[in-house]
Amino acid sequence: MKALPFWFIAVGVLFALFGMAWGIQMAISQDHTLAPAHAHNNLIGFVTMVIYGVYYKLVPAAAQTRLALAHFWLALVGALSMGAGIALATTGQGEWLAQIASILTILAMAVFVFTVFRNRAALTV
Ligand code: HEM
Ligand code: HEM
Repeated sequence: MKALPFWFIAVGVLFALFGMAWGIQMAISQDHTLAPAHAHNNLIGFVTMVIYGVYYKLVPAAAQTRLALAHFWLALVGALSMGAGIALATTGQGEWLAQIASILTILAMAVFVFTVFRNRAALTV
C-alpha cells in the first residue's frame, strides 16, 4: 500500500498530540498515577509507529505486501489498547486489556523483525 508510511506517521503524531495533552493534564492535576499508561501511549503509539513509518518510506518494496498491512493493524490496535489497558491495570480494574495489547504489540514487532531481515538488501549501502 503506497500510503502506508503516511498512515503509520499520521497515527503516530496523533498519539503524540493526545499523549502530550495527557501529560499536561497529569502535570496540572499533580496526579501521576497514570504515568506508565501515558509513557506507553507515547512510546508505543508515537515513537514506535513513526519509526515503522520511516522504515516503510526507506524500503518502499516492503510496504507493498499484505504482511505490511497486517503489521499496520496489529501495531495500531496494540498501541490503542496499550494506553487504555495500562490505565485499567494501574487503577485496579483488571489486566486483560493490557495483556491483549502486549500480545498484539509484540506480534507487530515480530512481523517487523521478519520484514527487516527479509528486506535486508534494501538497508545496505
Ligand atoms: C507535553 C508533553 C509531555 C508532558 C507535559 C508530559 C508529562 C509527564 C508527567 C507529568 C509524567 C509523570 C512523571 C512522574 O510521575 O515521574 C510523565 C511521565 C513519562 N512520560 Fe511524559 N509528558 C510529555 C510528553 C512525553 C513524550 C513525548 C514521551 C515519550 C516519547 C513521554 C514519556 C514519558 C515517560 C516514559 C514517562 C515515565 C517516566 C518514569 O516513569 O520515570 N512523555 N510525563
Ligand atoms: C509489549 C510491549 C511492552 C510491554 C508489555 C511493556 C511493559 C512494561 C512494564 C510492565 C513496565 C514497568 C511499569 C511500572 O513498573 O510501572 C514498563 C516500563 C517501561 N517501559 Fe515498557 N513495555 C513494552 C514496550 C515498551 C517500549 C516499546 C518502550 C520504549 C520504546 C518501553 C519503555 C518503557 C519505559 C521507559 C518504562 C519505565 C517507565 C514507566 O515506569 O512507565 N516499553 N514497561
